[in-house]
Amino acid sequence: MTTTSDVATTRTEPGRPAIRTGLAVLAVLFGAAAALGQSTPFAEPPPRLGLARSQLSLGNLMSLIQSRHIKLWYAGQARNWALVHYELDHISADLTDSALFYTMIPVELVNATGKPLAAMREAAERDDVATFNAGYMGLTEACNGCHQAGNVGFVRIQTPIASPFTDQDLTGRQNR
Ligand code: HEC
Repeated sequence: MTTTSDVATTRTEPGRPAIRTGLAVLAVLFGAAAALGQSTPFAEPPPRLGLARSQLSLGNLMSLIQSRHIKLWYAGQARNWALVHYELDHISADLTDSALFYTMIPVELVNATGKPLAAMREAAERDDVATFNAGYMGLTEACNGCHQAGNVGFVRIQTPIASPFTDQDLTGRQNR
């Protein structure tokens, strides 16, 4: 496996200032990533992963979860239950991956999302928007509960007030 330090030793010959500058920038970025890991202990990946940090960065997984959390809301409001199921499956899988890859996360904080996720699945089966909304509030609380415990309480999740996904019809009109 090629590590950052291998790259640094093989590419420092004279006459390649651009690469050296690039590496200096990289070093600064990696330094920043390490500092972030320290202040957000849950985001510290186990060394055995052997993958680039950014590939499975918890922050990146969370950004995917955030997109799905927004789509989930609008799908539920439109009774687009097929899309609700789809987003729930992905949110569950991404949260499970977070717990598997980031072993510093206390598992009960991930499990706290289980009940609201199940409630929304049930709501989808029963065509029940009120139950869906209650589940959605519960999920959002579980998001924020973990953020607070993980020193990132400043990442405050709420029910969306507008969808940025103007290129996707979340209502399911096309499928009816
Ligand atoms: C079990 C713990 C846990 C749960 C549950 C959780 N998060 Fe996170 N989340 C984190 C941690 C830890 C970070 C900080 C990651 C980092 O800094 O690398 C984070 C960061 C984020 C970020 C910031 C990403 C960015 O780049 O701005 C967003 C957005 C986010 N979470 C959304 C959510 C949403 C939405 C949910 C619920 C559906 C959720 N999270 C549930 C632990 C959790």
